[in-house]
Amino acid sequence: MLNEESLNTNTLGHLTIGGCDTVELAREYGTPLYVMDEACIRRNCRMYRSSFDRYYNGYGMPLYASKAFSCKEICRIVNEEKLGLDVVSGGELYTALSAGFPAERIHFHGNNKTADEIAFALRSGVGHIVADNLTELHTLNETALAMGKTADITIRVKPGIHAHTHEFIRTGQIDSKFGFALETGEAMEAVKAAARCENINLTGLHCHIGSQIFDIQPFVLAAEVMLSFIDRIKRETGIMVRELNLGGGFGIQYTDSDTPVAYDQYMETISEKVRSRCKALGLDIPFLYLEPGRSIVGEAGITLYTIGAVKKIPDVRTYVSVDGGMTDNPRYALYRSDYTALVANKASLAAAEEVTIAGKCCESGDLIQENTRIQSAQPGDTLAVLSTGAYNYSMASNYNRIPRPAVVMVHNGMARVIVKRETYEDLIRNDI
Ligand code: LLP
Repeated sequence: MLNEESLNTNTLGHLTIGGCDTVELAREYGTPLYVMDEACIRRNCRMYRSSFDRYYNGYGMPLYASKAFSCKEICRIVNEEKLGLDVVSGGELYTALSAGFPAERIHFHGNNKTADEIAFALRSGVGHIVADNLTELHTLNETALAMGKTADITIRVKPGIHAHTHEFIRTGQIDSKFGFALETGEAMEAVKAAARCENINLTGLHCHIGSQIFDIQPFVLAAEVMLSFIDRIKRETGIMVRELNLGGGFGIQYTDSDTPVAYDQYMETISEKVRSRCKALGLDIPFLYLEPGRSIVGEAGITLYTIGAVKKIPDVRTYVSVDGGMTDNPRYALYRSDYTALVANKASLAAAEEVTIAGKCCESGDLIQENTRIQSAQPGDTLAVLSTGAYNYSMASNYNRIPRPAVVMVHNGMARVIVKRETYEDLIRNDI
């Protein structure tokens, strides 16, 4: 079983999460239903936080990348755990502020922030704005000037490291819409442009090398590249860059074949490299940030569905259809992402049948998983899909006018709704 600290099987043979029977949760709150385990989220937050304390004298801060799952309650929990927050839109910022998240611990990302979003961030006192391009840098300066403020910014750099699951490469130039390239001199130009802006205060550099990465080495290499750049900035311009953000991307377990690194090991290895490199270059140790999203909430969440039609097509495959689909989890349709599924009311039985799990949208590609083994499924059974806490609710849509499911938080055997299920009335609320 994945995430054994959170998931279990009870005497009825039902899957449990955070001490709650999933079949009971499905009955009480309806399906589809996202269920998140609070203890697991807090454990992950603490693992990152304590790794900064243990390996880096606490001279840094993990930021939760809220794009993975944003709602008011998750912002409150992350705030209580004393992490910072990464937001990428006015909407994510609004959610965080509405939850009382302190603006000074918020970092605002995005490759095309609108003038309104920039003004909103500055007005709200957002601690760091991660500048992505020159147009934005100038808008930032002008908006800050008009408000009589100085904007603390970080510059997003493309470090030329392309990392993804199980492999990474170092390339001169990465084809990415995010940030300033190092190799072309663009990043140095941005630093100099920021220095010329009177209402901008350059505090740090940022990079993000990918997502669902199972290896520490690409992060170590990124740290090395970024510190060399900080050194070059110091020598060429005299500017001291005091903060370094190495982004997120730490891999989680979706199936048994995924082999994630324990989250505290990233800091253990990265901090050694940062120390030794700074010593060699004669640089002060920078304040460090990491931006985990998926690894904070991914394994903490599951989705429960009710199985409807089971369609056996002889010599082809068996379709098991559920009452949700690509509207609540678009990741298979988008990326062919692997998931582990099981029949929650038969969790102690063997996964003896190979099936394709389909959603209810009017679209052949609306699948949750193809050719996967689950327990023998009958209409009315509860299907659980594991590790859906990240990039599921946050990427959900209303395609086919399907209301978004509720999100329930479980903790020590108790459950509470943290996001209400949408109603049909919600769907037409903005229709004229
Ligand atoms: N920081 C930056 C600047 C990012 O762009 C991202 C993710 C993160 C942090 C958090 O990365 P994480 O730790 O969650 O891997 N929708 C895709 C994932 C897109 C990730 C985008 N950026 C998926 O469902 O797999």
